[in-house]
Amino acid sequence: MLLALASAAIETMKPENIVIMKPAILVTGGAGYVGSHTVAALLEKPNTDVEVVVVDNLSNAYRSEGQKKPEAIKIIEEMTGKTIHFYDVDIRDANALREVFEKHDVACVIHFAALKAVGESVQKPLEYYQANITGTCTLFDVMRAFGVYKLVYSSSCTVYGEPESLPLGEGHPTGRGLASPYGKSKYFCEEIMKDICRSDRKWSVISLRYFNPVGAHRSGRIGEDPAGVPNNLMPFIAKVAVGRLKELQVFGADYPTIDGTGVRDYIHVEDLADGHVKAIKLFSQTGFNGFHAVNLGTGTGYSVLQMVKAFEEVSGKKIPYKIVGRREGDIAANYADVSLSHRMLGWRATRTLRDMCADTWRWQSNNPDGYKST
Ligand SMILES: NC(=O)c1ccc[n+]([C@@H]2O[C@H](COP(=O)([O-])OP(=O)(O)OC[C@H]3O[C@@H](n4cnc5c(N)ncnc54)[C@H](O)[C@@H]3O)[C@@H](O)[C@H]2O)c1
Repeated sequence: MLLALASAAIETMKPENIVIMKPAILVTGGAGYVGSHTVAALLEKPNTDVEVVVVDNLSNAYRSEGQKKPEAIKIIEEMTGKTIHFYDVDIRDANALREVFEKHDVACVIHFAALKAVGESVQKPLEYYQANITGTCTLFDVMRAFGVYKLVYSSSCTVYGEPESLPLGEGHPTGRGLASPYGKSKYFCEEIMKDICRSDRKWSVISLRYFNPVGAHRSGRIGEDPAGVPNNLMPFIAKVAVGRLKELQVFGADYPTIDGTGVRDYIHVEDLADGHVKAIKLFSQTGFNGFHAVNLGTGTGYSVLQMVKAFEEVSGKKIPYKIVGRREGDIAANYADVSLSHRMLGWRATRTLRDMCADTWRWQSNNPDGYKST
């Protein structure tokens, strides 16, 4: 018996059985909208020799029947010629997460996985807190168990609540008067991350506060693919343009803005993805640790009607719209102070409003039914 065990042990030590693991970046929610564009950006960089591991429970990502990998991941593999390790895993499942960490030499985590519909979160607060907070704590616990302390987190400008002043800088108070469980979940996660960073100097956390991600990959092959009626403006406009929805509803035209409609800081998803690539570079700086919140926006706000006009110009399609009442919890205007992202990440958004509309239109017109069309 002992002999058998010994020979089995020697067998596993033969050179051909020694697996040299490359450092991996674990991307939770990497099959979703922002996650898939970030995975593409990581793999498109020249001379990248990094392994990308995606964990996603496919609650908001499309996989064709009988396929192992979701459509977005398969397309990125085709575009880049690189393999992406994919695991159909829920981040609340600690055992399944541990198995992923055992298989790969995870160097850092980019954490996108979350539920994100503001309105739905009011109807289903428990589901949102479980996915966004319990899931996040489970992930941190497994990271710590495997000695992984570097994290980029998907936060949101929602954490600022109603702006006291504009542009919104990272020093603006957070957590005040937050209307939705979604917004609160992002704020609570930031507070949790601040606490873990205070408790142990090994943690390095960059919380990227996104403004309004729009657009699609320049190839027109990956993009935003919301299930049902979209919650956000740009996919709504795109679905109207492609004839899948009759008209756009504009929520409120009596705000104190340029034309009465809400103003937001829209940022191209490829710029956003590049911001993540820049962020993980900070982890290699000696002495970089602690909690850092950084805005990712352009610093310029556009109104709903300005967006409609820009999209009409680029697509040549008329976007019929109807003005309806304000939506509860919506604010008049927000846009980012982007000076910290320039200083700290050496990053700034380079794509224009025209690029945002043209890339959305390319994706939507090539794929009128999203990934189901591919
Ligand atoms: N898109 C936006 O407007 C926006 C703005 C600010 C912040 N964010 C944040 O950015 C992140 C990504 O957003 P997105 O627009 O790409 O959303 P998305 O829904 O397209 O992507 C999220 C992905 O996470 C997966 N997921 C959800 N719950 C999971 C769980 N429990 N376990 C494993 N996977 C799970 C989904 O299947 C999906 O593929 C989210 O954290 C979101 O809150 C998004």
